[in-house]
Amino acid sequence: MGFGDWWDQHGVPRVIRFACGMPAIMKLRSQVVPLASGEVFELGCGGGINQQFYNAGAITRYAGIDPSGKLLDYARGEAEAKGWQADIRHGIGEDIPFEDNSFDTVVCTYTLCSVQDQAKVVREMRRILKPGGKLLFLEHGRAPDPEVLRWQERIEPWWKPVAGGCHLTRPITEAVRAGGFAIEPMGARYLPKTPRAIGWNEWGVAIKDSA
Ligand SMILES: C[S@@+](CC[C@H](N)C(=O)[O-])C[C@H]1O[C@@H](n2cnc3c(N)ncnc32)[C@H](O)[C@@H]1O
Repeated sequence: MGFGDWWDQHGVPRVIRFACGMPAIMKLRSQVVPLASGEVFELGCGGGINQQFYNAGAITRYAGIDPSGKLLDYARGEAEAKGWQADIRHGIGEDIPFEDNSFDTVVCTYTLCSVQDQAKVVREMRRILKPGGKLLFLEHGRAPDPEVLRWQERIEPWWKPVAGGCHLTRPITEAVRAGGFAIEPMGARYLPKTPRAIGWNEWGVAIKDSA
């Protein structure tokens, strides 16, 4: 195994667990994740950090996928600690292994930055939602300020291999809207005490129309 493979399999999952557990991020998770209800699917559930925020009483079924074996192990450990039934599988957002119209809520946090094909993933999340269902999103991405964006463009080529394929310049709300959702924004800001190039966050609720 070369260093790159070793880093992806062992280093990146540990960095993700640490970085994605920062207090400012946990605060945002606590605003978004408890809104999940009914039959819930989480894309990029690896690490399992969101599980502590789910209101188990409002959820009738929880399923999630992630392509990282190590992060799936963490997620299964979190499910055990929470003591709930969780259908946690290996998979990718470009080809979600569930039927059309099968979930009330899809949760997607800090994952659209890392997928291969963002537009396809947004379409897949919409496909598996029931009409009227909601996508809860919380993501970092393309900053609105031109000078920050220039830094993001400079840093991204070396950031991506170090950070598990994470992009810095991807649009968030616009990408979700372009996938056919009606957006109810909840917030957008730079995270405190974080370099602005990696700190721009947007979060909200995206509704699949019931037509
Ligand atoms: C920065 S981590 C965030 C993990 C978790 N969603 C969270 O909020 O803590 C990015 C996650 O996206 C997952 N990922 C990468 N490519 C993916 C894909 N094509 N489909 C679904 N998940 C993917 C990674 O394995 C990783 O778990």
